Parts: sequence; structure tokens; C-alpha cells
Amino acid sequence: MSHSLSWNRKDLIDVEHLSREEIETIFSAATAFKQAMEADDKKQPYLNGRTVVNLFLEPSTRTRLAFEVAASRLSADTITVTGAASSLTKGETLRDTAQNMAALKADMIIMRHSASGAPHYLSKVVDIPVINAGDGSHAHPTQALLDAFTLLEKFGALDGKEITILGDILFSRVARSNIICLQKLGAKVTIAGPSTLVPKAFESMGATVCHDLQKALKNADAVMLLRIQHERQTSTHFPSLGEYTSMFGLNKERAQWLKPDAIIMHPGPINRGVEIDSELADSNRSVILEQVTNGIVVRMAILHLCYCHHKGIEIELPS
Ligand code: CP
Repeated sequence: MSHSLSWNRKDLIDVEHLSREEIETIFSAATAFKQAMEADDKKQPYLNGRTVVNLFLEPSTRTRLAFEVAASRLSADTITVTGAASSLTKGETLRDTAQNMAALKADMIIMRHSASGAPHYLSKVVDIPVINAGDGSHAHPTQALLDAFTLLEKFGALDGKEITILGDILFSRVARSNIICLQKLGAKVTIAGPSTLVPKAFESMGATVCHDLQKALKNADAVMLLRIQHERQTSTHFPSLGEYTSMFGLNKERAQWLKPDAIIMHPGPINRGVEIDSELADSNRSVILEQVTNGIVVRMAILHLCYCHHKGIEIELPS
């Protein structure tokens, strides 16, 4: 069935570029895919005969698998290329790698890279859609969109809702993208954690910085936990993981500071017993696995919208 959705982007590089209307368009398409999935109508025809390349030059479980599932649910063929298995290890440039993929007639590239800005660069050197699956500490737009979609399912609307992001904000692309995305949807964002990982400079993004954990949790409608991103830290930002957990880990006692109906989120991977108590991660307040499931339909929506725009095809959705 054709829909009156409007979408004018070939690539998805950052939520910063999206208007609230564009974010809502992604969610309308994701809702249609979710309803179809729940009716066991999982496979859709919209990318039939197309080839989607997953170029993952940094480790990933959820994002890579969710993109693979999303592309395959849209009937595309998928190819996954990881850093260790590519000729990038032999000195080939990213530009040459990407242009070879386009020459092999790939129709879209999904890229994760340790360098901030790499997907943006790629989108300038190939004439096929490029989707950012996480670049350095810069942005993780599809994670922020699936997080907001999950919150909207819980709360209906985010205007005036208070969301606390707790953990390693400084090195987190998830935090940056969520701060931007949640505020575009009307939420108030507080960021919390040790001052070395939650610098005051983030207030320039509109978030409230809070180093008092009880204060940061008590008005939150949702708390989003982040792991410590050792892979991006070049110096020590707190004495030990044990001390981090004792000061900022979310445990059952601290969860009582939250409102009774507040939900617990985490983009994964979880470090159980560090930023979150294992029992809380598995409790009925946790929506962590719902986030993962929503990652499929939000990514189906993004692949579908970007490809339709690139080819000038009318947007169709499951009825
Ligand atoms: N949330 C997230 O990006 O997880 P992965 O690193 O496993 O993809």
C-alpha cells in the first residue's frame, strides 16, 4: 500500500541533521513494519534483488545483526565485511574499498568505523545510500532512534519527559545522539556520572549535567545506562572499575530512588555488575531486549526510506 510519507535523504549520517518531522516519519514506517512483524508478516518485498553491504570496521553484535535482519526482512541480499577480513588490512584506503563495493553493484552501504566522520566521508565518495552504524565517539543515529521509538511505545509522547543518561558520556556516541534526538522530541535530558566522564561542556548541547546520582535519578521517567568505553579511553578517568560501580553503578537500592514506573534502558553490550546490577538488567523494569527488537523495525524503516528516495520510488508500507 502506498503512503503519503515524505523523505528526502539518501543517507543517514547523524540525528543532528533530522527534523522532528523526519524522525516521526521514520517512526511511522517503523510502526508499520512492527505491526506486520507482530502479525507474523515478517518478510517484506521492498528491497528484493538489492544488495546491502554491512561494512563493520569495529566490533558489533546488536547493530550488525539487526541491520542484517532488517535488510533480509526487506528481501535484500546482504554481505558483511569486517575489518580483519577486508583488504583494508593490506593498505587499501576506505575510499577504494567503498568504490569497489559500488563497482560490485552494491545498492547500500551500512558502516561502523572507529573514526568520527568516516560515514560522512563515505557518503561523499559513493553514489549509493550510506547509513552510519556508529562512528567513533561522534554519533550512533540508529541507536538513538530505536531508543526514542522504545520510549514512545512506553510513554506515547516524550514532551516534558525526563530522561537520565548515566555513565561514560564523554566517549559515548550513543549519549551524543540520544541527547540530540530526545530533545528534538521534547524530552529533558540529564547526564550523570563522574565529573571526568560527564564534563560541564555537555551543557552546550542542552543537557543538564548532574554529578549527584540520587538527584539525577529521582525525577527520571527513564534511566539509560552506558558502559565504560575502555576502547576509546587513552588515560584513566576513575581509580578502578570497582570504585566506579560503588559510586555510580545502578543497583537495587539506588533503583528505589527512581519513580515507581520509571524504566531502565541500555544500548548494550552490558557489563553486568559494573554499570548495572544483573538482577535489574533482567527485571520487569528493564526494556533492554525490547530496544534490540525495535532496532530491527527502525532500521528497516531507515533502509527503506533512504533507498526509495535514492531511486525516486514511491514509499510503500505493509497495510
Ligand atoms: N548498541 C550497540 O551498538 O551494540 P553493538 O556494539 O553490539 O552493535
